[in-house]
Amino acid sequence: MSRLRSRLSPRIVLALFVIVLGGSLIAFASVTRTELGTPDQQATVRTSRDVSGLPIQSACTVVPGKELFVTDVSVVDDCLRTTWGPCISSGGTVPAPATQGAWTFGARMQSLAGTTDPATLSTFTLNWLHHWQVDQTINSDLVPARTRIKSLLIDPWLAASGGTTLDMKKAPFRLLAIVARLDLRQNAGYSGGTTAGEARFVYNLLDLNNNNAPTQFNVIFEYGLDAADCAAVQNWADLWHGLGSHTFGPDYNAALQAVTDRFATIGASPGKPNGSALNQLRTNEIALISPWELREFKLPVNVLTTGAPVQLAEATVAQTPARSLQNTTAISTYANANAAAILQNSNVVPLIWSGSPFRGGAAPNNLDLKWDGPLPSCTSITDPKVREAFSLNTCSGCHGTSETKTTFKQVEPRAAGFPSALSTFLTGTGPFTDMCGVQVNFNDIDRRRVDLCQLLNKTCTEINSEPVITFVH
Ligand code: HEC
Repeated sequence: MSRLRSRLSPRIVLALFVIVLGGSLIAFASVTRTELGTPDQQATVRTSRDVSGLPIQSACTVVPGKELFVTDVSVVDDCLRTTWGPCISSGGTVPAPATQGAWTFGARMQSLAGTTDPATLSTFTLNWLHHWQVDQTINSDLVPARTRIKSLLIDPWLAASGGTTLDMKKAPFRLLAIVARLDLRQNAGYSGGTTAGEARFVYNLLDLNNNNAPTQFNVIFEYGLDAADCAAVQNWADLWHGLGSHTFGPDYNAALQAVTDRFATIGASPGKPNGSALNQLRTNEIALISPWELREFKLPVNVLTTGAPVQLAEATVAQTPARSLQNTTAISTYANANAAAILQNSNVVPLIWSGSPFRGGAAPNNLDLKWDGPLPSCTSITDPKVREAFSLNTCSGCHGTSETKTTFKQVEPRAAGFPSALSTFLTGTGPFTDMCGVQVNFNDIDRRRVDLCQLLNKTCTEINSEPVITFVH
């Protein structure tokens, strides 16, 4: 070696050095790109929830706990922006809680109704809660009343408010999480509009009759992130990604509120009902009566009102058939006829299938719903992967043990001062086999992390040609 070097002139050594260094730089650049995924891997991150094939992301700086799924107690118990945190009980020794802070349940109702008027907000909220007091028929599906809503929530809230009007400052709901769902973005190819996805606030109902204890009743507000075009989608991605560089505490919370105020305030989305960015509000509870039940509410479009805001209306549960259709041919004929779209996660479960009502009015959940056609199991839907994808995308399937190892809740109720526990669907199930032998493996926060890493590195041409997906959650 030393003899070889002695025979090479210094200039040649320098030239060799440049070639080697340059080559390794090119190699490094292409490795970084590979870590962001091949085009096929990038498509898979968007069209499948399985994480077995996720590209390795060592070069990516997305911090999921700050940019995608925020449960840190410094956020969810922030004295200035939330209620029911430690500030409430500490008798004035810490800053008084902002009784109408930006991340309170009351602020959510204001953003839905588009007003701060106390009487209007009370009526708007009571009208929503009345849906549980009487039987509902939604898309011909009978959804029986769950009348305990009165003694558990309405009456104690009215009593705490001192009368007949619900005081939004007394709303018995604790913040559990703030979640960015940029992975639900759609380019203009989907129903004509571009969106950067959704952002969500998750709350848990507290029992005012029982020392404000957590209950088994969760509410999620799902707001659309308006984006006129690809540049606006990239801007949302930069905004959420920017949160990763802030330190938890007052600095982070101010930065996060600057982002949440863009979609969660009054008039955030002028083109939608009440000017609200809400896409839908969903509930998941057994606190009213067994079994667990999931519901969905929307602000309907094209409703004429005189002065009063558009009221929340109960809607069908997205992507989920009526409970009575389990193990019937309606399920298997739908799944078989739409197999390709179901595998691509681009199907929309219709209101009517084969001339009969199909989508459910609510989703009862006894952890028994491994959706399938007529028995014996795994025979009537031709491709077991189609059954798996179809069932996974229902409320009861994904909030259930068979498809995702989840026991009802993705986000657990919590006591003040403690963060919510998250399901293993979110944090990692590891590989397992479903009822028909299909191997699956979920880690949805990691899937979203990889997706954001890729989004931050994509050009508009790449973003605009992303596959269409219809994930509900
Ligand atoms: C593919 C999985 C999946 C499907 C399908 C799904 N969810 Fe969820 N759900 C989640 C995840 C994950 C969260 C946590 C928030 C997030 O990540 O956006 C969640 C959170 C919730 C919450 C608040 C926290 C909790 O776990 O109780 C409610 C309420 C809820 N979902 C209702 C519904 C309803 C109603 C449907 C059907 C229209 C539905 N979900 C369909 C995965 C799913």
